Amino acid sequence: MSAAVLIAAVVGGGVLVLMRRLFPAKKAGKLLRYAAGTMRGKTVIVTGANSGIGRALSAELLKLQARVIMACRDRGSAEEAARDIRRKAGAEQGEVVVKHLDLASLGSVRRFCEEISQEESKIDVLVNNAGLYQCPYMTTEDGFEMQLGVNHLGHFLLTHLLLDLLKTSAPSRIVVVSSKLYKYGHINFDDLNSESDYNKSFCYSQSKLANLLFTLELARRLEGTGVTVNALTPGIVRTRLGRHVQIPFLAKPLFYLASLIFFKSPLEGAQTPLYLTCSPEVEGVSGKCFANCEEEELMAKATDDQAAKKLWDVSSRMVGLTD
Ligand SMILES: NC(=O)c1ccc[n+]([C@@H]2O[C@H](COP(=O)([O-])OP(=O)(O)OC[C@H]3O[C@@H](n4cnc5c(N)ncnc54)[C@H](OP(=O)(O)O)[C@@H]3O)[C@@H](O)[C@H]2O)c1
Ligand SMILES: *[C@@H]1O[C@H](CO)[C@@H](O)[C@H](O)[C@H]1NC(C)=O
Repeated sequence: MSAAVLIAAVVGGGVLVLMRRLFPAKKAGKLLRYAAGTMRGKTVIVTGANSGIGRALSAELLKLQARVIMACRDRGSAEEAARDIRRKAGAEQGEVVVKHLDLASLGSVRRFCEEISQEESKIDVLVNNAGLYQCPYMTTEDGFEMQLGVNHLGHFLLTHLLLDLLKTSAPSRIVVVSSKLYKYGHINFDDLNSESDYNKSFCYSQSKLANLLFTLELARRLEGTGVTVNALTPGIVRTRLGRHVQIPFLAKPLFYLASLIFFKSPLEGAQTPLYLTCSPEVEGVSGKCFANCEEEELMAKATDDQAAKKLWDVSSRMVGLTD
């Protein structure tokens, strides 16, 4: 019985994939096309650049001749990704620099930023892309719940330590990759590290709401500096983000097929971050959230100035900054 259902589903899925290949126009919209050389002379840092959206974004930026700094926690995997995107970027390409950055360690974030400050004369764009989703309860080196620690707090310190360089490089941009799942979260100020009770989906949503509130407060603080910051939600993208989610063995092929049909490819998922990184249309725009390269309306909890301020102060204390 279940085998028959599976076969039917696989065959049905196969037909759907075929149809989608035949009618690609129905997909998530056209891919952006910028003139070759659009990013020549520009330095872009991408966190989590070895996989998924970050990797696809890095590949596109390299083709547009940017100097791409791939900030990754696994050097081996990052070097391999770098080799691959270089090989595919064509004759006229920018540069790739692989750098170690573990956002689950404030020490690593500090070392990364020191190296960048010594080695780079400017940063045109910082893309806070790295993230993890629904991992089992774990803590970072500094004792933060892992999803909040990597998705929000690590990037909070990273951005803070790179701000001087971003300001002297103005006009410059910060791009924050959030998620529509922010809708199911709130900031649990009473137990930010979920020490009393861990709900892995709540913690992801909380961290992605934190990304949006961070964007809001940072934009306010950066007014008049020539540095802009915008967030985005990429949609559902076929990446390794779901690595911690257990799918029953038999359901795996079905899930895979469904992902081929309904999920965006990494390149499609990278379009909005690419837009926010490169497009002249968003020059001077700050404090907004985008989806499919258009401004997205957010729920009130993501535009709450008071919560954004409070989260900023708490985060500063947690990562050991006083300002
Ligand atoms: N895929 C989706 O449907 C979707 C939807 C909404 C939002 N997003 C957001 O999109 C962003 C990119 O995710 P993705 O979908 O491309 O997933 P992915 O393929 O799993 O990529 C995530 C990246 O983050 C890196 N990372 C994880 N922990 C890190 C740490 N401690 N230090 C440094 N880097 C770390 C990973 O490095 P390793 O490879 O070494 O683990 C990887 O490069 C995330 O912020 C995610 O929340 C994705
Ligand atoms: C965990 O959090 C999610 C999202 O906030 C919520 O929908 C769900 O009911 C929570 N689960 C439990 C067991 O509390």
